[in-house]
Amino acid sequence: MFGPKRKIDMLFEVDKTKCVKCGACVKDCAFRALKAGAEGYPEIPKPEKCMRCQHCFAICPVGAITFNGHRPEDAVPTRGLALPTADEVENWMQVRRSTRQFRKEDVDRGALERILSRLGDVPTGCNARGLTFTCFPTRRAMDAFREEFIHAIEAHRDGPKLLPRWLAVPAIRMRAGKGDMFFRDAPGMVIISSDETNPAVTTPEADVAAACAYFEMLAQAHGLATCWCGFLQLVQREVPELLEKTVGIRRTTPFYAMLFGKSAVAYRRGVCRETDATIVWKE
Ligand SMILES: Cc1cc2nc3c(=O)[nH]c(=O)nc-3n(C[C@H](O)[C@H](O)[C@H](O)COP(=O)(O)O)c2cc1C
Ligand code: SF4
Ligand code: SF4
Repeated sequence: MFGPKRKIDMLFEVDKTKCVKCGACVKDCAFRALKAGAEGYPEIPKPEKCMRCQHCFAICPVGAITFNGHRPEDAVPTRGLALPTADEVENWMQVRRSTRQFRKEDVDRGALERILSRLGDVPTGCNARGLTFTCFPTRRAMDAFREEFIHAIEAHRDGPKLLPRWLAVPAIRMRAGKGDMFFRDAPGMVIISSDETNPAVTTPEADVAAACAYFEMLAQAHGLATCWCGFLQLVQREVPELLEKTVGIRRTTPFYAMLFGKSAVAYRRGVCRETDATIVWKE
């Protein structure tokens, strides 16, 4: 397996009084940055190969590794940790919904901060962690964004390029206060973007999509309603200066937006999907 070379700013320390030379850390190092030294203790002869995934740190059975100053006792232990059961996760997958009717009020700031800070844990290709979470946390912030959004579309409408009907007509309705098809009148939105200029980022689109799914799951676990905002991506293709101007997202930057707020509706049951997942078994 090969990965991008990284800046070496990590410190790998092994407590030789604890290490039992089991080799688990070396075996689980996907980028082969670690190897067993002459005495059998793990060493890192090629630190430039390290992707800082901390698998070595996480797998060590005796907590002998300190990684970049992070000690085993600082980490969440896996033993005894309450995790959702398979039934709970499956139940949630059946009743999770994309909510398109939000209550007026803002969401609790503390809960939002907790959700967003936990998103630092989402997986990214090669552990590049190049994601940015741009949050519009209140209705006030969203309304200001909506205003810029309509303004950008209106400015475009007067230009030489014709806007498609699906964009122009709802924008006119939005300006007239007749509904917000694009952002569902949500009181909050987070735009998750990657950094396509960072050579360590190898899978930006998938990183963004994965982070959206984790956001949806965690936000709904906190009692928030969420909706995938595919419209913003479609709009960005037509009016690319919109996000460049408002949030500094370049035309080439992979991104996706998630709307959130408190739900104005209650779903009483899951849906009965009419198509199963297409599964191809190659046996
Ligand atoms: C979009 C994406 C692509 C990935 N591709 C690979 C891959 O090709 N091979 C691999 O071993 N791990 C792959 N990973 C796993 C990451 O390397 C891993 O998430 C990261 O190192 C952090 O480790 P963790 O998921 O155990 O926290 C991928 C992860 C994501 C999100
Ligand atoms: S952090 Fe990951 S890549 Fe770096 S030495 Fe540990 S296991 Fe290997
Ligand atoms: S996993 Fe821990 S105990 Fe095993 S070799 Fe690595 S540092 Fe030593």
